[in-house]
Amino acid sequence: MKILHIDSSILGDASVSRQLSKAIVNQLQAKNTAAQVDYLDLAEQTIPHLTAEILMGQNAEQSALGEQILQQYLDADVVVVGAAMYNFGLPSTLKAWIDRISVAGRTFKYTENGPVGLAGDKKVYIASSRGGVYGEQSPVDFQEAFLKTVFNFTGVSDIEVVRAEGVSMSDIKDQAITTALDQIAKI
Ligand SMILES: Cc1cc2nc3c(=O)[nH]c(=O)nc-3n(C[C@H](O)[C@H](O)[C@H](O)COP(=O)(O)O)c2cc1C
Repeated sequence: MKILHIDSSILGDASVSRQLSKAIVNQLQAKNTAAQVDYLDLAEQTIPHLTAEILMGQNAEQSALGEQILQQYLDADVVVVGAAMYNFGLPSTLKAWIDRISVAGRTFKYTENGPVGLAGDKKVYIASSRGGVYGEQSPVDFQEAFLKTVFNFTGVSDIEVVRAEGVSMSDIKDQAITTALDQIAKI
């Protein structure tokens, strides 16, 4: 089993989403000791924003990087994404990764019946952390909802969200993390 573990929080050891994503990977490894883990720390190694030059394949270095990122996503059996909510959405570093894995002909294609995902043979865990409390269906959640849409678009339907929310509120932060870790223990 190949696990792709991605973190994007800028807060290092103080990050809740990093704590949760690591706990998920540890749990998966405990269940499958042969699992291989590829790790991407997008705060440490940022992926350059997509440009027209990159999109058109006119930058050899970036084409090679894009192919590596895309192939790593395609090869993964399980993807674990640590996703902080920043300004109702994702860290821009994570969006830059998404821009490299959403590739026509590789992870999706358009047909007469609309778009079809081509990378559906994997499970995705979203380790979500946010300062406020939004729940499942908030109209201002452009973080989890966006991630789910993108992974669905590439064909993935098996998506599990592990969420700690309200972490900017000192009275509920610890309980939010405990609840998320309890969910992870059941994976
Ligand atoms: C730049 C920045 C923007 C943030 N924007 C929001 C926001 O829009 N809504 C919210 O509920 N919390 C927001 N927060 C709080 C984070 O979602 C919260 O601290 C979360 O735990 C971040 O994940 P992390 O602990 O993995 O870094 C923001 C935090 C930062 C640093």
